[in-house]
Amino acid sequence: MAVIGSVDPAAYEAWYYTRRGRWIGEREATLLLELIKPARGQSLLDVGSGTGYFSRRFAAGGLAVTGIDPDPAMLDYARTLSGPVEYLVGRAERLPFADNSFDYVAAVTSLCFINTPEAALQEMWRVSRRGIALGLLNRHSLLYLRKGGRGGYAGARWDTWSELARWITRLRPPAAAPKHKTAILWPKGGMLAQSLDAPMGAVLPWGGFLAAYIPRRL
Ligand SMILES: C[S@@+](CC[C@H](N)C(=O)[O-])C[C@H]1O[C@@H](n2cnc3c(N)ncnc32)[C@H](O)[C@@H]1O
Repeated sequence: MAVIGSVDPAAYEAWYYTRRGRWIGEREATLLLELIKPARGQSLLDVGSGTGYFSRRFAAGGLAVTGIDPDPAMLDYARTLSGPVEYLVGRAERLPFADNSFDYVAAVTSLCFINTPEAALQEMWRVSRRGIALGLLNRHSLLYLRKGGRGGYAGARWDTWSELARWITRLRPPAAAPKHKTAILWPKGGMLAQSLDAPMGAVLPWGGFLAAYIPRRL
C-alpha cells in the first residue's frame, strides 16, 4: 500500500524500504499469505503488480508468480529487481489467460484504481482455480479519516467490507465463504502501533488495509 503520487517507479518502490514502508509492506504481505494459505509451488497472478513488491514477496513465499500491469514503466522497473517473476502488460478487465489458469489471483491496492471493480473481479475469478486475494483501501479506517482522497491517495477509491461482500455475492460461479481482516490500524506506525497491529487487527475492523480472500467452491 505505497502511495501512488507521481508514479515514478523507483520512488514508489523506495517507499517500501522506508521505516514505515517496511512495516506496512511486510504486515500486508503476511496478512494476505495467512488468508490464502498457499502451498509451495502453486501459481499466483498478481494483478496491478506495479513495481512487483508483492509479486516478489509472494514468490519468496514459494509461489510461482506472474505479474500483470497496464503501466510499462512500472514493469520495466520491476524487471530490473531480482526475483523469479514474469511480468506482462495487461489490464484486470481483460486478462489474456484461459479460464482457471492460476491457482490464485491477487490484486493489492490495484482494484481501487479500477472504475469497474465488479467486472474486474469477475474477470480475476474466471482465471483463478482456487480463489482471489484482495488488498483494498478501507473507508472505515483512521487512515481514511487522515488521508482519504488527499495527497498520494488521490484518485483511489476507498471501499468497505460490506460493498465488497455485495460484489462477492454476484460472482459466477458463486464463491465459498470469504474471509477478511484489516491491518494498519494506526497509520503512523510507531513501535507500539506495530506491535499491537496483528492482535488488534484480529478483532477491530478499522485498519486502513482491508485484506480479503475469496475461495472457490472446490
Ligand atoms: C498503488 S499501485 C499498487 C502496485 C502494487 N500492487 C503494490 O501494492 O505495490 C496500483 C497499480 O494498479 C495498476 N492499475 C491501474 N489500473 C489497472 C487496471 N485496469 N488493471 C490492472 N492494474 C491496474 C497501476 O498501474 C499500478 O501499478
